[in-house]
Amino acid sequence: MGDYIAIATTDELSPSQMKRVLIKGKRLLLCNSAGTFYCVDEMCSHEDYSLYLGCIKDGKIKCSLHGSYFDLITGKPTCEPADAAIHTYPLKIEAGQIWIKPEAV
Ligand code: FES
Repeated sequence: MGDYIAIATTDELSPSQMKRVLIKGKRLLLCNSAGTFYCVDEMCSHEDYSLYLGCIKDGKIKCSLHGSYFDLITGKPTCEPADAAIHTYPLKIEAGQIWIKPEAV
């Protein structure tokens, strides 16, 4: 798989579940939203708070501290108080394995 790193198997996460992943010292979240996988920053852009403590709903992840939702495709907040996007990272899925390119992190 060349320069990709395997971070999970597709059967590891049920819908609405998340997994914390550490890549190059950066904390990322792998999210399963209704069977589609996304990878985003673990930390909220509003304050230094883990989105892992929130929940996934309708293609978005909710920060449980102040209630902002972030679109899992774009990383953009869909409601206040957060006004900055979180980063999103491209994934590759092959043969039941989820891969991420470390250069993208
Ligand atoms: S810390 Fe996430 S919305 Fe405030």
